[in-house]
Amino acid sequence: MSVPLGTVDAKSASELDDSQMPLPYRTPFVSAPVLQPYSTGIDPADGQPVNHYRVTEVAAMASILPRLKTPILGYNGMFPGPTINLDRGTKAVLRVRNQLPAQHALDGHRLSTSTHLHGSASLPQYDGYASDVTFPGFYKDYHFANSQPARTLWYHDHGVHYTALNAYSGLAAQYHVHDPVERALLPQGRFDVALTVSDAMFAEDGSLGYDDNDHSGLWGDVILVNGRPWPVMKVQKRVYRFRILNASISRSLRPYLSTGDPLTVVATDGGLMPTARTVANYRHAGAERYEVLIDFRKYATGKRVELRNLSNKNNVDYDHTNKIMAFDVVGDPVDTSDPTWNRIPTTLVASEAMSLTASQATKVRRFRVKRSDTTNLWSIDDATWQDVIASGYRKVIADPALGATEIWEFENGSGGWFHPMHIHLVDFQILSRNGRAAFPYEMGPKDVVYVGEGETVRLLMKFTPHRGKYMVHCHNLPHEDHDMMVQFSVGLGPDEVDVNDPMTAAPPQWDDGA
Ligand code: C2O
Ligand code: CU
Ligand code: CU
Repeated sequence: MSVPLGTVDAKSASELDDSQMPLPYRTPFVSAPVLQPYSTGIDPADGQPVNHYRVTEVAAMASILPRLKTPILGYNGMFPGPTINLDRGTKAVLRVRNQLPAQHALDGHRLSTSTHLHGSASLPQYDGYASDVTFPGFYKDYHFANSQPARTLWYHDHGVHYTALNAYSGLAAQYHVHDPVERALLPQGRFDVALTVSDAMFAEDGSLGYDDNDHSGLWGDVILVNGRPWPVMKVQKRVYRFRILNASISRSLRPYLSTGDPLTVVATDGGLMPTARTVANYRHAGAERYEVLIDFRKYATGKRVELRNLSNKNNVDYDHTNKIMAFDVVGDPVDTSDPTWNRIPTTLVASEAMSLTASQATKVRRFRVKRSDTTNLWSIDDATWQDVIASGYRKVIADPALGATEIWEFENGSGGWFHPMHIHLVDFQILSRNGRAAFPYEMGPKDVVYVGEGETVRLLMKFTPHRGKYMVHCHNLPHEDHDMMVQFSVGLGPDEVDVNDPMTAAPPQWDDGA
């Protein structure tokens, strides 16, 4: 049933019969379900509320195509997995049970997983450290403080060398932290809509195809939103908030509205921007989150507004990859019970990352990202995760002190590739791109930066609140797996014992099912 790797040609990534191929705007939009905690309580250590959640990683069958079923790997058997929703200051303990088969059906790799909450300043042992894997039949409890300002996060697999195929197979989900500032400014509840966008290709039998073009990237011909191909959502004549996550493992997007009306960007990876930014379109790489407002008040009942994709350099595009989803404006009575129903705010809120100034930086570090000429591996300053493994997880590319502010510069000399670079632990501010200002829509707290062809970006960040080792990598996941990932340490002396050692501080447990 599996597709041999590397057989999918460029004209049509999927091998489905025409009659089985999904078409745009035929499928109703769905939202991922919200995960309820199985228990709630108070942490006796500090009196803070704590929610206990449980997800089980399992193989399951999904209904993505009109008739055929698609085998996936999912948190609770779903793609995307269930959304976790909580308030800032409520801690979470997330038990991830690995009940996957021993091997992946497509390439036979061992299905050991590591779960990363992307967007959270987690302790290293709960950060989804790639090599800190949980084998099938085991579970791991991940502790999250949720003490950072409101934002859109996501949890996804980070298992060493197989993150791309595991995330592509379905191990990805959103996670939202709310706070009073964000609640006052932006739509909530059913007007606060998570859009997890991804691309996929399908084999003849409806299973997922996989071809990463010699580890360059995977470009599917079907665009999914919350696991449905090009869905259609009914909307009222009011303002909606969309939390757009590009969960594609390689593809970058350039979303825009078919009406020519603007999108208002209000939040980036790390939450609210200081100022809302109105854009005709914007560049959106894998793992980046942008929250946008769309105002449907002016459209007539029955109007269809499409969210389309202009694409960017070095993606592979197909007949319908220029479309993402559509909104059908309905004539229903409009819910005006919240003051955000007709408001596009302009001034939002400051954040720690956006309040930093370059003069606070005590160090500038430069990293060159490229494919190594000798090994053909993707690398960061010629270093790879293989080097980290070979060093017994000691090798680091930077060692800032706890609380230090630094400038990190990433240079992509190539014209052939873009690299969405992700730094764990921190929120950063984009100081410049090729010596000029960042794009208006990325002037908010970020944890992934699009390092485009021939681009050099300068990032400003403060290394808090934890000591320990954290990863930095490209979020084109085939690049990450082969082997564009390294680590840095915060606040650790060279021979200091690391009490938060991600490989040993919180090992997975055997799961007896109790
Ligand atoms: Cu979203 Cu280290 O990953
Ligand atoms: Cu992350
Ligand atoms: Cu890359």
